[in-house]
Amino acid sequence: MTKTVLISGASKGIGLATARRFARGIDDVSCIVMVARKSDAFDSAFAEVRAISGNRQIFQVEADLSNPEAVKDVFDRLDAENVAVNYIVNNAGYAKPASINETHMVDFEMTMRVNVYAPFRFVQEALLRNHPLEKVINIASTAGTKGRSGWMSYSTSKAAVINMSEVMRDELAPYGVDVVCLSPGRCATDLRKKLAPDEDPTTIMQPEQVADVIAMMSSPTGKMLLSENLVVRC
Ligand SMILES: NC(=O)c1ccc[n+]([C@@H]2O[C@H](COP(=O)([O-])OP(=O)(O)OC[C@H]3O[C@@H](n4cnc5c(N)ncnc54)[C@H](OP(=O)(O)O)[C@@H]3O)[C@@H](O)[C@H]2O)c1
Repeated sequence: MTKTVLISGASKGIGLATARRFARGIDDVSCIVMVARKSDAFDSAFAEVRAISGNRQIFQVEADLSNPEAVKDVFDRLDAENVAVNYIVNNAGYAKPASINETHMVDFEMTMRVNVYAPFRFVQEALLRNHPLEKVINIASTAGTKGRSGWMSYSTSKAAVINMSEVMRDELAPYGVDVVCLSPGRCATDLRKKLAPDEDPTTIMQPEQVADVIAMMSSPTGKMLLSENLVVRC
């Protein structure tokens, strides 16, 4: 039977690298749903993935995940297209680094909406609509295992993703849904540039390396790896 993966934050960085990886073939996944906000970059990313995907079906779904209604709209579109989701890669992420004194609640709230509430809603909505969910891969961060000075909202949100993944794993295991939490370290993307503007991106992990781990965790081999929170770094 053919399977579908939904990847949030698929317009660039780790999400785009993951979409490319699925487009080249992983296990029995033959349908890829790419989610991000409307932009020219997303259009280009979608066109590029479609071009390398052979016979696989690719859907581009525009959604601003800071909007609490957005996940429902994504599933309305998928239901209308008769797409049943088996794998969710909760990858979209937002960061606005600031010290405690300079953290504005509107930015903190935005970080929580994109990094915590949206991944929760993707899983909840898939369950409520009886999608044949079997694997959830939540992308947390090493910033979630150890708080970092100047990264109040981001570190807090990623700690929540790690804990949320434990709840999901515990609660959904009896129903055959495998929940994986990956915590990448420094990876050369736009988000990392915001967090560490002076770093040379060629000296750190590349998005394709994280995508390879996501691919492995989505394969039958990944089923043999049980971990509360897998750290991915090079
Ligand atoms: N890079 C690192 O060092 C690192 C380390 C640990 C964990 N991570 C995590 O890895 C994940 C991927 O990040 P990345 O490093 O690949 O960053 P990135 O290149 O900046 O990509 C972030 C993705 O999230 C999407 N996104 C952000 N806000 C959104 C919103 N409101 N609605 C919908 N989509 C939104 C972006 O799409 P649009 O902006 O096009 O909508 C983009 O596709 C994140 O969860 C991040 O926290 C990254």
